[in-house]
Amino acid sequence: MFTNQHHLRHLLRPHHYASEEQYRAELRHLFQPVWHPLAAKSELAKPGDFLTFDLLETPTIIRNFDGELRAFLNVCPHRHSRLTDKAKGNTEKLRCQYHGWEFNKDGGTGKIPDAKAFRPWDRDTACLRRFQLDTCGDLVFVNFSDNPRPLREWLSPVWDAWQDYGGAYRYAATWEKDFPCNWKVVLENSLESYHIPQVHPYTFKDFPPEENAWHELTDQFTSFKTVQPRDFGGRMQEWIVRRLGHPVTNEYWHRVLHPHATGSTLDPFRMMQCVFPTGPASCRYRCIFFTLRGHRANPFAWVLFRTLRAIAMVIGKKVFAEDGSIYGSVQRGMECSPHAGVIGTREERVYHFQKYVLDNTRGPRELQQVLVPTEANGVCPG
Ligand code: FES
Ligand SMILES: [Fe+2]
Repeated sequence: MFTNQHHLRHLLRPHHYASEEQYRAELRHLFQPVWHPLAAKSELAKPGDFLTFDLLETPTIIRNFDGELRAFLNVCPHRHSRLTDKAKGNTEKLRCQYHGWEFNKDGGTGKIPDAKAFRPWDRDTACLRRFQLDTCGDLVFVNFSDNPRPLREWLSPVWDAWQDYGGAYRYAATWEKDFPCNWKVVLENSLESYHIPQVHPYTFKDFPPEENAWHELTDQFTSFKTVQPRDFGGRMQEWIVRRLGHPVTNEYWHRVLHPHATGSTLDPFRMMQCVFPTGPASCRYRCIFFTLRGHRANPFAWVLFRTLRAIAMVIGKKVFAEDGSIYGSVQRGMECSPHAGVIGTREERVYHFQKYVLDNTRGPRELQQVLVPTEANGVCPG
């Protein structure tokens, strides 16, 4: 059931989706303080495994140091080269690709070629910049600020739900794609089921009736729950989940912890989706995908696991492509829109997200201006 009975104001204006000033404010106030789900632990299982990321104007490397995961700025303190340009790999040492400085798990220097050329040695300025890293289930989170809130505290509304990424669910793949739109276009699309008949006519077909759609709305996060219909596909899915020794719920949950950490769960899979701004009107979407392995070790369960994984990947990619087909059009329309926009009750999570953005990037003065309806801005009274 929806919380609101009447439509809501579209709080953000087109300039919030295109201005350099808004982009800078969001980087600083929304993204800098929070944790970012970047990887699955199983992607970094072996000592020497590393992954690199180019997100939020902060090149980052995560590496396994003898079983311990550490995150650093992927920039060398010698003469600023990236330590590596590879997206992933395995190396015996963390070594800069330019002159070969080596670094230990604390970010301090190890072997330096022709070290005597750097006498007297200034150890403090020769350290890599280290970031906080922590995990929830199999998910690896990194924080770029100096004094972050503990991950457990930041994740408190979703901690229990996201613990089972890993365990009965195995890492399957990471999908990443750049879109020519502001990051909020992608995020807002994920917050409503209203677009389903138009954008997903073959995969999801129709949105659930209000009696089968539950929203939870808070300042910090929002969620959506629906129970899957028991049609042929639903029964097949239930049969496979039972054969893998996992409890059946038939519940689909979509939870967004503001600004961007988005967990989608259904019995066959777990998805962690994140969208990062890469400029005022561009963004990068990343999805870390897990599928159900269950608890049974017999060969039949193994075949079912592989089959379920293959089907879930095909459907997941199709849905991802369908959503991706609309983002550019929304951005282009926004650039010349004379309208204020309006939000329906089925889209009420979008309103809460927009209020969060305004509350945290502008402060009360602009929020007040946007909330007060005037004829000039064409806002509907609501
Ligand atoms: S820039 Fe890294 S070793 Fe020189
Ligand atoms: Fe969608």
